[in-house]
Amino acid sequence: MNLHTFAATSIGANLEPKSIEVEPNGTTDIVIKVTHCGICHSDLHMIDNDWGMSNYPLVPGHEVVGEVVELGSQIKHLKKGQRVGVGWQRSACLQCDDCLNGNENLCDENQSTIGNGYGGFADHLIIDGRFAFALPDGVESKHAGPLMCGGITVYSALRHAGMTSGQRIGVIGIGGLGHMAVKFASQLGNEVVAFTTSADKFDEAASYGASEAVNVKEENAFEKLQRKPLDIIISTVPASIDANAYVNLLASDGTLTFVGVPEKPLEIELFPLLMKRRRIMASPIGGRGIMRDMLKVCDTHGVRPVIEEFAMKDVNTAMKKVRDGSVRYRAVLKN
Ligand SMILES: NC(=O)c1ccc[n+]([C@@H]2O[C@H](COP(=O)([O-])OP(=O)(O)OC[C@H]3O[C@@H](n4cnc5c(N)ncnc54)[C@H](OP(=O)(O)O)[C@@H]3O)[C@@H](O)[C@H]2O)c1
Ligand SMILES: [Zn+2]
Ligand SMILES: [Zn+2]
Repeated sequence: MNLHTFAATSIGANLEPKSIEVEPNGTTDIVIKVTHCGICHSDLHMIDNDWGMSNYPLVPGHEVVGEVVELGSQIKHLKKGQRVGVGWQRSACLQCDDCLNGNENLCDENQSTIGNGYGGFADHLIIDGRFAFALPDGVESKHAGPLMCGGITVYSALRHAGMTSGQRIGVIGIGGLGHMAVKFASQLGNEVVAFTTSADKFDEAASYGASEAVNVKEENAFEKLQRKPLDIIISTVPASIDANAYVNLLASDGTLTFVGVPEKPLEIELFPLLMKRRRIMASPIGGRGIMRDMLKVCDTHGVRPVIEEFAMKDVNTAMKKVRDGSVRYRAVLKN
């Protein structure tokens, strides 16, 4: 079939309309008619080949929502006409220990929606049907896209860092991922501190549930926090941060978890970790089980991303806003 996509044909290029001929495999693949697609900062990293794993033409888009229009013979849990969402992952081996333990996102053979195929900036997406998720009726399509990568990434990272309720949780970077982390943590009954480089985000962070906001650019910004330690801090920033300063804000047994990847390797002082048995970890997206759990939590607790909508044809305008950090808080393309 002919996919009508918006593709980058070289590193860092603007997206241009491109027809691509590709066929579903007839067994495990499904075809989705794309209605909406969120834009994640990882789409930018991939267009720019920041991680050295991009193939061109590259069709970005891994927060995809649409309607199933064709099903492979082995896909029985979905039906034609059903509304589904797809995230970063397009497939996995489904037979290794990680896959069998429900951690398909950790599988050595996991494939990405935009690195190992063509993504959702298109009229149709072809994907392994086992990595398409039925969406709760209560979650509108325009909101579902950003949950499929941004949402699951912060939800899974926070859960695996031990988030329950009644804790004190810090969120570094109030962008696409960060604003959803504030919402998940606060809706699930935690006290949230937002760490931002943008003082003009204070009020919005408060409206998403943060009880305190810290302008990290201010001198001595962390001083007043030191007496009220945080159980978990999540960094969603795609740049280097002062990790040692954040470690010192953690309670004993507290965890600093990374989902945004700093540009440079971390230089960590060990004693502040050791003396309080603190941990540092990092977390990629989420497996299929926790994805279903997250969608349920969004449905029952009303967690929704704050979005700016753009027509698919205006993808470069939207991309520019993602690049300059002016989107509040997730751009969503609409066909
Ligand atoms: N681990 C995973 O599986 C996974 C999944 C999805 C995305 N990611 C990664 O997570 C990161 C965040 O993605 P996103 O879509 O949330 O990005 P985003 O919407 O651009 O938000 C990033 C936020 O980080 C803060 N920031 C501080 N310094 C920055 C700098 N030098 N450049 C850009 N932002 C800066 C800004 O918040 P303030 O204004 O509040 O400071 C900004 O809004 C990206 O690196 C992305 O690739 C990881
Ligand atoms: Zn993403
Ligand atoms: Zn596997």
